[in-house]
Amino acid sequence: MAAITVAHLTKRFVGKTAVNDVSFSLGKHEFLVLVGPSGCGKTTTLRMLAGLEPTTSGDIYFGARRVNDIRPKERNVAMVFQDYAVFPHLTVYENIAYGLRSRGAPRSLIAERVPAAAERFRIDHLLQRKPRQLSGGERQRVALSRAMVRDADLFLYDEPLSNLDAQLRHQAREDIVTLHNQKQKPSIYVTHDQSEAMAMGDRIAVMRDGRIEQIGTGGELYERPANLFVAYFIGTPSINLFDVILQAHGDGLYAATAGLRVLLPPEIRAGLQDRMGSTVKMGLRPEDFHVPKFAPFEVTEHNQTRGIVNVIEPSSTGCTVYLSTVEGTPQDFAATFRTRLPASYLGKEIPLALHLEKAHFFDAEHGASLLSR
Ligand SMILES: Nc1ncnc2c1ncn2[C@@H]1O[C@H](COP(=O)(O)OP(=O)(O)O)[C@@H](O)[C@H]1O
Ligand SMILES: [Mg+2]
Repeated sequence: MAAITVAHLTKRFVGKTAVNDVSFSLGKHEFLVLVGPSGCGKTTTLRMLAGLEPTTSGDIYFGARRVNDIRPKERNVAMVFQDYAVFPHLTVYENIAYGLRSRGAPRSLIAERVPAAAERFRIDHLLQRKPRQLSGGERQRVALSRAMVRDADLFLYDEPLSNLDAQLRHQAREDIVTLHNQKQKPSIYVTHDQSEAMAMGDRIAVMRDGRIEQIGTGGELYERPANLFVAYFIGTPSINLFDVILQAHGDGLYAATAGLRVLLPPEIRAGLQDRMGSTVKMGLRPEDFHVPKFAPFEVTEHNQTRGIVNVIEPSSTGCTVYLSTVEGTPQDFAATFRTRLPASYLGKEIPLALHLEKAHFFDAEHGASLLSR
C-alpha cells in the first residue's frame, strides 16, 4: 500500500483555485519533488498535507487512514516552511529541539540529536544564538535541522534552500538526500528550480496552475514529456521549438520550416501520419544539435541545418552556443557542444547536424505530445 495517497485534492480560495484535482501517491521510502512556477499551488498542496489548510474537496490518506479531519499535530508531519518560521525568542538549540520537546521526547534523545543535526548543517557554532543574530541562510538551516531531528511519518520541504548560496545549496541538497536515505520516510520536496528537482527527486511532479501536468522520474520527464509545458520547463537551456509543416514525399515524412527541411526517422513517424500538411511544434533539445564531424550518427543532407553564432558560453563540459536560423525570419535557438568553440566563430554561419531520433512533436494548439514513445 502507498504510504501517502492524495486523491482529487482541490483547494479554492475566493476567486482562485489554487490546487485543482491533484492526485498522486507516494511509496514508503519515496522522495517526491513538486516543481512548478511560482503560484502554481505547491505550498497550498503541502499545507493541506500537513493539515494547516482545510481542503475544499478530495481526500488525503496516510496509509489506509483518511487524515482530512485529523489535526496537524496528530498527523506527525515535519515541515520546513518557505519563510523558515523559526521562533525569535528561542535560541538555535531550543528552536531545533522544539518539535522533539513538544512531543515529549526524552532529554537524552534531544541532547543527542540537536547537536548532531546542527553539525550536519554546519550551524553547530551558533547553538546559543537567537535567530535575529543569524543570516537568512543560517535560519534556513535551523529550520531544516528542526525538521530533520523528528521521527515524523512524512517530511515536507517547502523551497528550503532558496536562501542559500550555490555552494551551500549543493551541500544541503546532499545532506537532505542522505538523511532521507537514512530515515527511509516518505518526503515531498517543493522547488521552482527544475535542476534541483532533477538532482533530488526519485519522482517529480510538474505543476502548473493548480494541476499536475506530468509525474514521473526525471528521465521520463526529460525523454518523454507529455506536453509542451513539461518539455519546456525541464532542461536547461530549454528545448528549442520550431513550427514545422509535415510533408510526405515518396516514402519519406519531412518536417519543414524556413531554412530547415529534415527527413524524420521511421521510429517517430507513427504518431505523425495523420498530421500530414499541418503545422506542429518540433522540439529539439540543445544537446541534440551537433558539430557534424562529432555527430554520433550518420550525417546526411536530410538531417542538417545551419545557424549563425551569436553567443558562445563556455561550460565545464564544452560550451553552450546561442544561434539564429539563417533563412526567413531569424529564430533563436541554443545548442550545447562537448567541445569548445573558439571565439572566432562569433557572427559566423556553421553547419549543424540534428539528432532527429530525439526530436519531440507537439500539437500546435493544445501542446500535447504527438509521440507515443
Ligand atoms: N490564503 C490565500 N488566499 C487567497 N489566495 C491564496 C492564498 N494562498 C495562496 N493563494 C493563491 O493560490 C495560488 C497558489 O499559491 P501557492 O500554493 O502559494 O503557490 P506556490 O507555492 O506554487 O508559489 C496563488 O495564486 C496564490 O496567490
Ligand atoms: Mg510556495
